[in-house]
Amino acid sequence: MKKNYSVQSLFQPFTLGSITLSNRIVMAPMTRAFSPDGVPGKDVLEYYKRRAEKGVGLIVTEGTVINHLAAAANPNVPYFHGDKALNGWAKIVDAVHEAGGRIIPQLWHVGTQRIVGQLPNRESLPIGPSGVNAEGIKVNEPMTEQEIEVVVGAYAQAAADAKRLGFDGIELHGAHGYLIDQFFWEQTNRRTDHYGGDFIARTRFAVEIIKACRLAVGPDFPIVFRFSQWKRRPFTAKLVETPEQLAQFLLPLVEAGVDVFHCSTRRFWEPEFEGSSLNLAGWTKKLTGKPTITVGSVGLDEEFIRFFAEGKGARNVNIDGLIERLEREEFDLVAVGRALLVDPAWVDKIRNGCVEELIPFTHEASKILY
Ligand SMILES: Cc1cc2nc3c(=O)[nH]c(=O)nc-3n(C[C@H](O)[C@H](O)[C@H](O)COP(=O)(O)O)c2cc1C
Repeated sequence: MKKNYSVQSLFQPFTLGSITLSNRIVMAPMTRAFSPDGVPGKDVLEYYKRRAEKGVGLIVTEGTVINHLAAAANPNVPYFHGDKALNGWAKIVDAVHEAGGRIIPQLWHVGTQRIVGQLPNRESLPIGPSGVNAEGIKVNEPMTEQEIEVVVGAYAQAAADAKRLGFDGIELHGAHGYLIDQFFWEQTNRRTDHYGGDFIARTRFAVEIIKACRLAVGPDFPIVFRFSQWKRRPFTAKLVETPEQLAQFLLPLVEAGVDVFHCSTRRFWEPEFEGSSLNLAGWTKKLTGKPTITVGSVGLDEEFIRFFAEGKGARNVNIDGLIERLEREEFDLVAVGRALLVDPAWVDKIRNGCVEELIPFTHEASKILY
């Protein structure tokens, strides 16, 4: 693999509300499940600190769950509530800042992707807009308006806590078929009240969360919103079919107070709609005027679902296609997942042209906090 392009554009600073990022590289949120009883400890701290020391511009933490009994589907996923977990996060924030980095938590509720009886909190039933999972199987009653209010409040509390602990912003996980996305998607949102209906009405839950978070953190604290067309089940799902629909879908989220959209795709080079080479981040930036983060197989030759489905690794490949798009300002920031999971020094190696030293992603890597 030869380096035959300039990476200068990746290393330009970027201002996000009240903070400045030293470069355009974002660590993508990646669930690692190394936090027993929901508490991130020293090994998790060192893991994030290494990425900050080695030049990642912005770390988005792994999904960390809000204060709701059915928010998590794994007892080793970190909580974003309770003194123990929040103290763990406070230390991580300090360590990342001392290393010159920036960090935001990804706030998460799995909704009906939680399996009935799963730890933690076995007795808590999964919740979702219509109480059905991605296959349409009923696992609970539809959420009541009161339950919705409680969950919205839990997001706002998490946002307030993020600010209090010194985080540089928050990311709301509105992607991949989890709770917020379950409201977006017609298959899982069959409501006939004002939380359901067309795809604009289906943004109402997200809008309430964004507004409540904005109220909790004030105007200058960055709110990043992650969304995707695809769902974990099925990958082929789509929220919108045309640029016009995408614009209509995004507008309420913009008006509610999103600062940056994190547009989750599996391969960043894939056009989102026919007739243009723009990807989802490209279209989102064009349609909203908001900064966007692209993601999906940056520097790797296999997309990540093949890792989940088949345990497949990936080889390192050059990033000139990415650089060309960044230079055309199709998006502002670039999130890197597996390449950074396996190699804490990925950013430094790219900056210094040491591409021969990049470490390939393997299935084994997912079991270790490098
Ligand atoms: C081990 C692993 C865990 C992940 N966990 C999350 C998560 O908690 N939240 C999320 O939004 N995406 C998650 N993702 C998706 C990544 O953020 C990213 O979008 C995806 O890996 C594509 O980027 P990549 O091709 O650079 O790996 C995860 C991916 C991997 C590989």
